[in-house]
Amino acid sequence: MNVIFDPNSPANQQGAESLKNFVVRESYFRPEFVEMEYKSLWPKTWQMAIREEEVPEVGDYVTYDIGPDSLIIVRSAPDKINAFHNVCLHRGRRLVDAGHGNMASFPCKFHGWRWAIDGTNENITQREDWCGTLDNDDLSLGRVQLDTWGGFVFVNFDPNAEPLINYLGEAAEALAPFKLETMRYRWRKWLKMPCNWKIALEAFNEGYHVGITHYPLNRFGSSSFVSRAAGIHGSFGSDVSSLRPEGAVTKSKASNADMRKNMAGFYKYLKGAIDSNMSDTLVYAAQLLPATVPEDAPPMEVIGTLMKTAMEIDAARGVPWPPITPEQYQTAGIDWHLFPNTVLLPMATNCLGYRARPFENDPDWCIFEVYQLERMPPNEVPKTENLRNDDIYDYSFWGEILLQDFQQMEGTHLGMKSRGFPGSRLNPKQERSINNFHRVYNEYLSR
Ligand code: FES
Ligand SMILES: [Fe+2]
Repeated sequence: MNVIFDPNSPANQQGAESLKNFVVRESYFRPEFVEMEYKSLWPKTWQMAIREEEVPEVGDYVTYDIGPDSLIIVRSAPDKINAFHNVCLHRGRRLVDAGHGNMASFPCKFHGWRWAIDGTNENITQREDWCGTLDNDDLSLGRVQLDTWGGFVFVNFDPNAEPLINYLGEAAEALAPFKLETMRYRWRKWLKMPCNWKIALEAFNEGYHVGITHYPLNRFGSSSFVSRAAGIHGSFGSDVSSLRPEGAVTKSKASNADMRKNMAGFYKYLKGAIDSNMSDTLVYAAQLLPATVPEDAPPMEVIGTLMKTAMEIDAARGVPWPPITPEQYQTAGIDWHLFPNTVLLPMATNCLGYRARPFENDPDWCIFEVYQLERMPPNEVPKTENLRNDDIYDYSFWGEILLQDFQQMEGTHLGMKSRGFPGSRLNPKQERSINNFHRVYNEYLSR
C-alpha cells in the first residue's frame, strides 16, 4: 500500500521536488491507520519504555502499555531487567494494574495463579484438577526483547529484531558523548493530549516553528535550523553552530546586542518558561556575565566564560561535565527523534525528553509525556512522580513554552481534517526529519 503519495493530491501535480516534502493527511486521523500501526509498526520497533532508575531494586516493576499490549518491566535480579506480557495465563486477567511498585512475585487476583519475578510459574491453584496435564514449560510469562542504552530501557515485541545498538545507529553515536546514562529524572509530566501521536512528536521534531510559536524567544536571538535524516531517525540543529556550544542558544539577532545580558536573560527565561533546556547552574552562571565580562567582548568570549564558570560550579558540587568537543556538539545538534516514540534534546548536564504513543484505538488522542533529565550528585537525586494534567491551558503546570506548543498541536490536528487541506508541505531545509519520519513510517506500514 502507498500511504505517503496520494496520486490525486495537488502536490502530485507539482513534480518530484514537491512530492519529496509532501505528506498526506490521512494517517493522522483515519482509524484504520491506528490499526495498521498496532499491527505493523509498534510490534516491530524498539520503543523507549522506562528509565533504568525507575527499577533500582530487585522486584521493582513499571508497566508499559502500547495499544492492546501491556508489559511488566521488572528488575528480576540486580543485573537483570525483564519485560513480560502483563497477562495471567489462566483466563487472561491483567496480572498487575497499570503503574509501578515492588513485588516479591506476581499473583493473579482472580484465582491465585502466581509467577516469580523471573517469569517462571510458582503456583497453579488446585493444580491437581488438571490431572497432570499442565506443562511447566508452557506456563512461564511471555517475554519480549529488552535492551538498554543511555539509561533508557527499550523493548521490542519482535523476537527477530536487530540489536538495539544497530537500530539506534548514528543516533547512538551522536548522543554518546552526553552520557545520558548518568542523568536522572528531575521532573516528569504527562497527559492525554487531543492530537494524533505523530503530530505530538513532530511538534518537537523541528525548529522552524520557534520564531513564531515561541515568539518571546526572539528577543534573545533569531532562529534558523537545519534538519537531517539519520537512518530511520532524524535530527535538527542550529545553522549557526559556533554560537551554541551548549546546544540551545541561537544566533543573536541584533549585531550590537549585549551578548552578556542576552545570555543572562535567555537562561532565566527558559527556567521560568519550561524549566528545561538549561540547568540551575547555567542560569546562575549566566547572571554573573554582566559583572565578569566586558561589554564589548566578542560572542565566543561571552559563551566561553559562561561555559567555563558553569563547569567549575558543577565540578565543585560533584557534577563534572563530560568532555564533549565542539565537533561532537555540532554533530549532535539540538534535537533527535528516535523512531518511533522518543524525542531528545541533549545538553552537557541535562536532557529534555518527549514521548508520544497512541491512546487506545483513537487517532484523535495520544499519551504524551515530557521530562527533564539531569546529571546530579547521587544525594541530590529527587524522588520524581510522573504527574498527570490533562488541561493543556494550565499555564502554571505546563509553563509558557509547552502551552504554546500544545495549542499548535491541538489546532493542527483539528485543521488537518479539513477537506481544504491536501497534506503537509514540509520545509525542505528545516523539516527534513519529519519527512524522514514519514518515509520510515510508510515503510513499516507497507511491510
Ligand atoms: S485469571 Fe488469573 S488466576 Fe484466573
Ligand atoms: Fe516548540
